[in-house]
This record gives sequence, C-alpha cells and structure tokens, in this order.
Amino acid sequence: MVVVMAPEATQQDIDSIVDLVRAAGVDAFVSRGLTRTIVGLVGDVHALATANLRSRKGVQDVVRISEPHKLVSREHHPARSVVRVGGVPIGPDTLTVIAGPCAVETVEQTLEAAVMARAAGAALLRGGAFKPRTSPYAYQGLGEAGLRILAEVRAETGMPVVTEVIDPASVELVAGYADMLQVGTRNMQNFALLQAVGSAGKPVLLKRGFAATVDEWLMAAEYIAQRGNLDIVLCERGIRTFETATRNTLDISAVPVAQRRSHLPVIVDPSHSGGRRELVIPLARAALAVGADGVMIDVHPAPERALCDGAQALVGEDIREFSIAASILSPVMGRTLT
Ligand code: E4P
Ligand code: PEP
Repeated sequence: MVVVMAPEATQQDIDSIVDLVRAAGVDAFVSRGLTRTIVGLVGDVHALATANLRSRKGVQDVVRISEPHKLVSREHHPARSVVRVGGVPIGPDTLTVIAGPCAVETVEQTLEAAVMARAAGAALLRGGAFKPRTSPYAYQGLGEAGLRILAEVRAETGMPVVTEVIDPASVELVAGYADMLQVGTRNMQNFALLQAVGSAGKPVLLKRGFAATVDEWLMAAEYIAQRGNLDIVLCERGIRTFETATRNTLDISAVPVAQRRSHLPVIVDPSHSGGRRELVIPLARAALAVGADGVMIDVHPAPERALCDGAQALVGEDIREFSIAASILSPVMGRTLT
C-alpha cells in the first residue's frame, strides 16, 4: 500500500503518517519526489483498516498495491487450482460439464434429465431443490424432497450433484446431500450465507451477482475462503446491462480476467445468461473458446412442461450439438473432457 501525500503536505503531516503507521506495527518508507512525497507501507496493512488514512491531513490518496482478496488471489497462489467434486476435477487441464434440470420436479424427470446430461458429456449433475424466484408465486422447489431425489439419481447414475443453498439455516441440511453447494447470483453478497458455506466442508460454486463487479465477486469468494474453504469454483452467468435481447449479458471477458486475478477455476452458465435455448450452444462454444474451465447447462426432458426456466433448457438434438462442440473444442484448448 502507498500513501500519496498532497503537494502542500508539511513535514509534520508526513511525520504523523509515519508515526501512525509504525505504531500499528507496519513499516513506513518515505520517498520524496520533486513535487510529491509518498509513504510506502510494508506489513499487514489490515492493522490500519480503521486508521482512515485517506482522511488524514496532507494525504491525497491511498493506493492498494496487492490484491485485497488475498486467499483467492494468484499473487499468493500463482498456480491455478483444481477443485474436486465427488472426485471429478474442475480446473485448468480439464473441461468439466455440469448439466441437469434447473429445478428438481420428480424422480422420473430428474433421472431422465441426468441421462440427457450424461449424453451431453456432463460429469456432474445440477438440479435446484431450493429455487430463488423473483415472484413468491413462482415454483419454489421441492426442498428436502428434492434433495432426496438428487441423492436417488446420484445412486442410479453415479453423478455427483451440485445444488443451491439459499440461506444459512439450511446449509447443514443441503450439505448432507450435495457434493457441491451452489450460491446463486442473488446471494453472491449474502455474507452470512458465504460464511456458512465456507464452514460446511463442501466445494462451493459461487455464481457472479448479476450486478456485481469482478472485484466484488472475488471478495465474495474471499469470505468463503476466510472460513478455511478454498474449494471454490466461480461461475459467470451473465450480468444485467442495458441490453434486453438476452436474459442477461454474458460477460465473456470476466472469464480470463477472473482466471488472471484468482487461482480459482472459472466456469460459465450459458443457460441463465442467454435465457433461450437457441443461444445456449453458441454461448457455450464461446465459453470453451475463451478458456473457461467448464460450463453448466440446463437440460430438461420436456422443457414445455418445466416448472422453472423451460425456455433455456436443452433437449435431445441440442445436447448432441453441444457435446460435439465440447469434444472438438476441448483438445484445441489443451483440455481433457472430464
Ligand atoms: C434459476 O434457476 C432461478 O431460480 C430462476 O432463473 C429464477 O428466475 P425468476 O427470478 O425469473 O423466477
Ligand atoms: C440456478 O443455476 O439454478 C440459478 C438460480 O442461477 P442464477 O443464480 O445464476 O440465477
């Protein structure tokens, strides 16, 4: 961190900053330029979190040099991480497909969707038992009954399951069934939930908030990591912009940006970003081409009867088209399809 003194700062102003910093156990190094003086801070600057340096007399600016999201940053962990979900790797050398129904509705529907997912090359099964919905009148999910169906389908297919948890009080319940806990876009800054899933002992899929910056997304991951859980996979699922031609705007640049600033795997959800079936394959191809570590797609045996997000669910032929794209593009990107 560097404290930039204002041109009019006096020697007394500079000395008081140095004294304040050193009293907090942080080293201070003064560097005088022709018109400007800076004070370099070396040490655990968290000790200065309440020092309000920027408001001190003679201070013009305070500039962070290192990333604030220390635990998930590549500054302190240069190698990109691999997160294993039920033994399935998600990381830089593989292309992992997560697929399944947006919402678990029945055993038959979920099992059929799982078989379709596997046909798409999916190694992990997704399925919502607790559904965050804009409207309180919309389908809210089966709750624990949905978790039981996921466990039954996992036993039948051998596919580890990823499912969403929407409040801290249900983390223990969901973690008892799931191989990976999903935190949805709406809950990306539900800090109590982030801390709870960070302590649950399961890998976490952290969706980017649809109005969140990459900085906020990485700091949300830091909340989870701070509780001792670094098994975090980031998921870019589209952001809200002025564009209305798609459900959300897939911020494809967020994939390499997040991969450069964090060691965590980054996947893409083309289903929730595009919002329509005909967009999912093109966006999934874009995700593979930009170097995403995986994709998560919605599939459903009968989208016209789906209780949630049927418009974006892939069916038979679409899935074959996707799996062809994945099998062709993954070697081109130097990855092995898991
Ligand atoms: C994800 O599956 C969400 O539950 C779903 O996209 C919510 O959509 P809605 O907010 O339009 O109900
Ligand atoms: C989901 O994947 O089921 C979901 C709720 O997605 P999002 O949080 O991205 O809307």
